[in-house]
Amino acid sequence: MAKERIVSQNAQVAEPEAEFDPQVLEIRPRALADYVGQRALVERLGIALDAAKARGDTMEHVLLHGPPGLGKTTLAHVIAAEMGTKAYITSGPALTKAGDLVGTLTKMEAGDILFIDEIHRLPASVEEYIYPAMEDRRIDFTLDSGMHARVVTISLKPFTLIGATTRAGLLTQALRSRFGIAQHLEFYAHADLVSILVRAAGIYGIRGIREDAFDAIAARARGTPRIALRLLRRVRDFAQVRGQGIADAKTVASALALEGIDARGLDELDRKYMRAIADIYRGGPVGVEAIAATLAEDSGTLEDVVEPYLLQIGFLARTRQGRRLTKHGADAIGFTLSGDAPSDGQLFE
Ligand SMILES: Nc1ncnc2c1ncn2[C@@H]1O[C@H](COP(=O)(O)OP(=O)(O)O)[C@@H](O)[C@H]1O
Ligand SMILES: [Mg+2]
Repeated sequence: MAKERIVSQNAQVAEPEAEFDPQVLEIRPRALADYVGQRALVERLGIALDAAKARGDTMEHVLLHGPPGLGKTTLAHVIAAEMGTKAYITSGPALTKAGDLVGTLTKMEAGDILFIDEIHRLPASVEEYIYPAMEDRRIDFTLDSGMHARVVTISLKPFTLIGATTRAGLLTQALRSRFGIAQHLEFYAHADLVSILVRAAGIYGIRGIREDAFDAIAARARGTPRIALRLLRRVRDFAQVRGQGIADAKTVASALALEGIDARGLDELDRKYMRAIADIYRGGPVGVEAIAATLAEDSGTLEDVVEPYLLQIGFLARTRQGRRLTKHGADAIGFTLSGDAPSDGQLFE
């Protein structure tokens, strides 16, 4: 299908996961109809897409935010495919010079899509150029400097900027307000993860995975398609080597226990994170920087990949004073919260 080729041909920065597994790219749904879950988001985008197409217009600028692996990049490709246009893929940290951005923008044809991943890491010096580009399709570029400095205005063809970020809070208000559509991606429901897994198993050509195995993988996927797909590949390998290619729920449990993943999908880092709050900070509250220093981890990593799911399942609470374990979280690691740390649903007179 021509549409598919258009998008992948123009991916300028390879997806990191694609380097590990070429099948990952095939797994991405291409049409909005194949995009599982995220109903509210899909409905809003569907309306915006249909309306733009009917008017022969370009799609509004879209900001997608949410934890990693929930389908932001996938959605950017889907939008390009639905609009029948090209997607240029780049990221905030890759756009170090304004010239890089100007180069790409001037190359783009009417209706093309510029996808900027990790847009919260766009350097301020580059961000400045984005504002007039988004609003007035124009770039004011200064050539030379000092006495010879002159401003050249370049007009651009209509385009759609799709920004993705794991940290909407780090975006400047100026940038955020220039997106016509801003949407948060939610963790996926169990049934949605199962359908993503079943579809992927079909594409990977994995047979021998029983229904209860899909359930067991979905239960350990932390509401995240990328994790679900990664676990599926681990289970496939395990079943191939140890189970004659057959996997049931028990196979999944053994395969994933080997990877340090428990029945809730929590891994070594999640447990270390909770243990640090429990053992060193008596259950909290404690600032994320302090936890990061204790674990010798980057605080951004903790905020992106550890905390969102622990918050979602109610193991962790964020308060003004910092993070603290909830009663559920403490129970999960066999820690007893002391009386002076308020636990959930328990009020102190
Ligand atoms: N809604 C979805 N339906 C089907 N597969 C999905 C969906 N969302 C994500 N995926 C799959 O999960 C993986 C991670 O998605 P990706 O778009 O790279 O996440 P993000 O950019 O938010 O980190 C991809 O392989 C993609 O195919
Ligand atoms: Mg991505």
